[in-house]
Amino acid sequence: WLSFEDDIEAILRLKRERNAVILAHNYQTPEIFHGVADIVGDSLALAREATKVDADVIVLAGVHFMAETAKLLNPQKTVLIPDMGAGCSLADSITPEDIALMRQAHPGVPVVTYVNTSAAVKAASDICCTSGNAKKVVESLGVPKVLMLPDEYLARNIARETDVELIAWHGHCEVHELFTAEDVREMREAFPGVTIIAHPECPPDVVAEADFSGSTAGMSDYVGNTKPGRVVLLTECSMSDNVAVNHPDVNFVRPCNLCPHMKRITLGNIREALEGMRHEVTVDPAIADDARRAVERMLLV
Ligand code: 13P
Ligand code: SF4
Repeated sequence: WLSFEDDIEAILRLKRERNAVILAHNYQTPEIFHGVADIVGDSLALAREATKVDADVIVLAGVHFMAETAKLLNPQKTVLIPDMGAGCSLADSITPEDIALMRQAHPGVPVVTYVNTSAAVKAASDICCTSGNAKKVVESLGVPKVLMLPDEYLARNIARETDVELIAWHGHCEVHELFTAEDVREMREAFPGVTIIAHPECPPDVVAEADFSGSTAGMSDYVGNTKPGRVVLLTECSMSDNVAVNHPDVNFVRPCNLCPHMKRITLGNIREALEGMRHEVTVDPAIADDARRAVERMLLV
């Protein structure tokens, strides 16, 4: 931790000087999550909290779509992302043209898009969702059939919990698609009695064999509420590191997969972004209103 002290002190000072806040996703490394972040959470919490920010500057310690969402909800504020290359395999899996083709193939069927998409894709959809509210959003539409894009596994996992027919796309999270049902069985054998929690971006056979599935905030709450003796979080690696800090009595088994996009964000580039007010995220005005509408509609559900 000592090696982080210089950057942490500089970032805390720069936040005061710039009147800035740092919003950090649960997959950020502990020195960011516990060291400099003002607000932490899952994608839904970060979107909600972005609507309440009073500062002039938001630094989004997370991936690009999260920064875009924060900008959509705060058009007057400066939103920085420490590394513009922090993308997402789900966001890269679909374009607005794909949405238009899906609408043509399924006339009149509403489009729910995961927040893990570009602002242009959000603008082409009816409403957004996150892993934390997907079922609620789908059911809020009051229709028998919904296009749920682009995460195939999230759609198939939610389909098991609702009577609404969900038509999926073929996007996958490159981190969560690596977990297998075989991994779950091996862990149960190696650690009898272990509690296994899977993110809903995992393949459906993984989620089916897990004890609980939920967004990153849902996973963290589940650990806090049930206090398992031993737990495994089938998700990105920093998640266990961050949750474990608050639960010293819980034994975390840590098979995990790193998200290379999330890991582009470091204390060093957060500091540089604030020093130089660099890497400002903007949204094309031609699509901003439509994208904002889809996000705000989600926040009302
Ligand atoms: P949540 O934090 O909304 O569960 O999302 C996980 C994720 O992969 C974000 O990129
Ligand atoms: Fe995208 Fe998966 Fe990384 Fe989340 S963990 S940012 S969904 S690639």
